[in-house]
Amino acid sequence: MALPQPAPERSPLEELVEETLGAIRARGTHRRMRVLEGAQAPRMRVGGREVLLFAGSNYLDLAHHPEVVEASARAAREWGCAAGGSRLISGNLALHEALEHELAEFLGTEAALAFTTGYAANVGVIPALVGEGDVVVSDALSHASVVDGCRLSKAGLRVFPHADLDALEDTLREISAIARRVLVVVDGVYSMDGDTAPLAELVPLAKRWDAIVLIDDAHGTGTLGATGRGTAELAGVEAGVDIWMGTLGKSLGSFGAFVAGSERLRELLVNVARSFIFSCALAPPQVAAARTALRVMRAEPWRRERLQANAARLRSRLAGYGISTAPSTTQIVPVVIGENARTMAICERLLARGFYAQGIRHPSVAAETARLRLTPMATHRTEEIDALADALAAEVAAPA
Ligand SMILES: Cc1ncc(COP(=O)(O)O)c(C=O)c1O
Repeated sequence: MALPQPAPERSPLEELVEETLGAIRARGTHRRMRVLEGAQAPRMRVGGREVLLFAGSNYLDLAHHPEVVEASARAAREWGCAAGGSRLISGNLALHEALEHELAEFLGTEAALAFTTGYAANVGVIPALVGEGDVVVSDALSHASVVDGCRLSKAGLRVFPHADLDALEDTLREISAIARRVLVVVDGVYSMDGDTAPLAELVPLAKRWDAIVLIDDAHGTGTLGATGRGTAELAGVEAGVDIWMGTLGKSLGSFGAFVAGSERLRELLVNVARSFIFSCALAPPQVAAARTALRVMRAEPWRRERLQANAARLRSRLAGYGISTAPSTTQIVPVVIGENARTMAICERLLARGFYAQGIRHPSVAAETARLRLTPMATHRTEEIDALADALAAEVAAPA
């Protein structure tokens, strides 16, 4: 007769996984990845179903642009698929330097430096600028990579309520006597709300208190401003911005990021930004794609104009149904539902109707403010925008 076996003991790893995932499930914020097929484009296959994509950040539809694809393929043939090292060892290709010159020329800065992602840029640049004895001042809704960069820096961290300029001024006044240096860092476009930082007032205010100003314009680069230079161009305060961070993986249809500013800033980052120093350089196909996308974006302002027109139409169609998209003024259009389960149920029902608009929950947004985050593209047709608004309105009105 077989003896009863003792219950197998759970390993410490299994225990911690179970504990953590159990808590996440109990909060209703468990996530899973959807599988998409095909190039990032207005129409894609998601989970095997043909849908209209309203969930990406390939805003200008450049990721699959024939010239971008061809440049990337040519770079793979001529330069290979890897840079083969970090920039300071063997990975600094002429292609990287060319991209950086073109980005600097576009932004009107002296120099730029490429990073492998926006996340890496923020966790590299912030600790390169401030440390113990300094204070970094940031908006309450700053991106997670800004928050992590602030934490890594070991500088004092002061967070002001979202877009509250009076609170920012109070903070700057208070810390001016004690901080060696002050860095003010804000997102240009808030990625879950689609509003822009009040840069027209914020930049001069930070300058009055002698702070260094860093703008994370991950979503503004290429999409906002008369020539696509982003939120500071839109607000007319480019001259006051010391440092720009932008990404290559959103409107620029490739992968990676950059920090732009003075030549001396670039030299500093090359010497001290750990995520730059201790990481492999961007691969040639990514660099070539970004260079070509930058050229196409500059040559084709209609993409930016159509993107913003599509976003404005979506906001106004939803408003017609009594659905608020506040505080969005950009191509990121949130519809706050509130409750996690209901948000995800609407997301699934929209998918079944042929629209992919991702539900976003805590911790990406504050608890109880779960939302559908709609991101139209420049190349969505007007009737597709309208169809999304109609379908969403029907689902929001449906009983939970
Ligand atoms: C405001 C902001 N900053 C930084 C990042 C990070 O950029 P990346 O995706 O290139 O790491 C994002 C990306 O989602 C973002 O929204």
